[in-house]
Amino acid sequence: MASKDKNLELLEKREEVSKGGGIEALKKQEEMGKMVARQRIITLLDNDSFHEYDLFAEHEARDFDMDKKTLHGDGVITGTGTINGKPVCIYAQDFTVAGGSLGLMHARKIVKIMDHALKMRIPIIGINDSGGARVQEGVNSLAGYGEIFYRNTISSGYIPQISVILGPCAGGAVYSPALTDFVFVVDKISKMFITGPEVIKTVLGEEISMEDLGGARVNCEISGNAHFFATSEQECFQQIFRLMSFIPWNNTRRPLPYPAKKPKPEFEIGKIIPNDPKLPYDVRDVIKAIVDASDFFEIQELWAKNIVIGFGRLNGETIGFVANQPKVLAGVLDVDSSDKAARFIRFCDAFNIPIVTLVDIPGYLPGVDQEHAGVIRHGAKVLYAFSEATVPKITVILRKAYGGGYIAMNSIHLHADFVFAWPNAEIAVMGPEGAANIIFKKEILSAPNPEEMRKQKIQEYKDKFANPYVAAARGYIDSVVHPEETRNFLIHAIDVSINKTENRPQKKHGIPPF
Ligand code: HXC
Repeated sequence: MASKDKNLELLEKREEVSKGGGIEALKKQEEMGKMVARQRIITLLDNDSFHEYDLFAEHEARDFDMDKKTLHGDGVITGTGTINGKPVCIYAQDFTVAGGSLGLMHARKIVKIMDHALKMRIPIIGINDSGGARVQEGVNSLAGYGEIFYRNTISSGYIPQISVILGPCAGGAVYSPALTDFVFVVDKISKMFITGPEVIKTVLGEEISMEDLGGARVNCEISGNAHFFATSEQECFQQIFRLMSFIPWNNTRRPLPYPAKKPKPEFEIGKIIPNDPKLPYDVRDVIKAIVDASDFFEIQELWAKNIVIGFGRLNGETIGFVANQPKVLAGVLDVDSSDKAARFIRFCDAFNIPIVTLVDIPGYLPGVDQEHAGVIRHGAKVLYAFSEATVPKITVILRKAYGGGYIAMNSIHLHADFVFAWPNAEIAVMGPEGAANIIFKKEILSAPNPEEMRKQKIQEYKDKFANPYVAAARGYIDSVVHPEETRNFLIHAIDVSINKTENRPQKKHGIPPF
């Protein structure tokens, strides 16, 4: 049995190691407006729930005077705890210890906690704040990264993986967050890039600040690497807490249901879409008019805004929403919005979250830039993701559903379970103007008044096809519904799909157009 002295010794040892890189380094961290690693974990997790492991781990590096250095915890804190009462594995790199650089022991600690997460089937959260591979440990650091990337990949679709960038995350280190499901960044604090400003200057002769190269905004607005933008660490932790409320703990579970709530009355579903089909509106208002308490948790809000993705609840159940955004680029699908939607659909499918798709799309974005950027390859991801998904898939056509966009946005032809359309929906190969110009070209050109004839023919086409009834007559639409009926139809569709099972041919895996 441990004597009183031994107990005291343990407390002293803990106290010593918990100082991280020492007073100076801790002060520097605070001056940069950053929390220190252990404080971050404790703030994020439920009160008193954090249990730390491998606190006394020591590195074994000997070169470059490393044998003379004590690196407390080897620059990373690992453990388990709970968020809203549910267990998670977590690690946080400690920048105060050798810049949070990743050496062999540091990597072993991360890998060990990742293995726990995999075995226990609980989410893993990684807080990144690091100068990257520990230069003194050479290939051992690279080996460590490789082992982390391997586990990120093996864990993908099995347990949720969350990355939080709260400092530098540079070089190959960025590929761990890139392999995880959600990346959180904080303004002014997060820096994420492959090659830093110095390398860019040397190789390309271009000067750029770290912020402009890979700051939080850049990663949220331009590259789309990150999913959530916060203005403080505190706000970031609240976002993580919120995300965790919508997702299940592993791929065998469903998200926990919440008490059902009605949408707020200020979102009047019948008044959102303008009468003129050319006028834009914010599709998020439609989502808010449908979901419980009008509470919509948007993901990648700042990137590829022509598509909206995120979580909301219907009758207490988590739903993944995918919606064209007519307010931006008329809601077309392009390279980035296709990537954004496809990845989200695959997350929902992997984690048993039903998908509701709201359609108002004039088609894929035309143009040389898009063709050359691979809109064919990227656009195919949406078709693949919807077709592949076996969770309940329900579609509501709000207004336009033209051409390839109609098919891609979870049409019945990709095996949506239910497709509803509002009475003003227009389902056609293309818009009435373009269609009339093609099929009535001769009549228009030879008419005494071509403009008058064009108008007449456009109207003729509209009357024939720009409505939901032709598709409904073929069974391509299950019901034409009043906007006010939408929530009820959706809730019922989710209810009846509760035991949905859909088999696929046995294979090792498909080959999505990555
Ligand atoms: C060892 C490191 C380190 C590293 C920082 N430190 N990065 N030690 N290996 N990679 C140490 C510093 O020597 C310093 O130690 C302490 O951490 C704090 O660093 P500072 O430079 O004083 O901090 P700051 O001014 O805030 O600058 C932070 C930084 C800078 C921008 C991250 O440290 C930096 O550029 N580091 C190198 C980044 C890098 O090139 N890493 C390798 C990337 S390649 P003392 O003892 O002085 O306090 C890579 C490949 C991975 O990661 C491939 C995987 C496939």
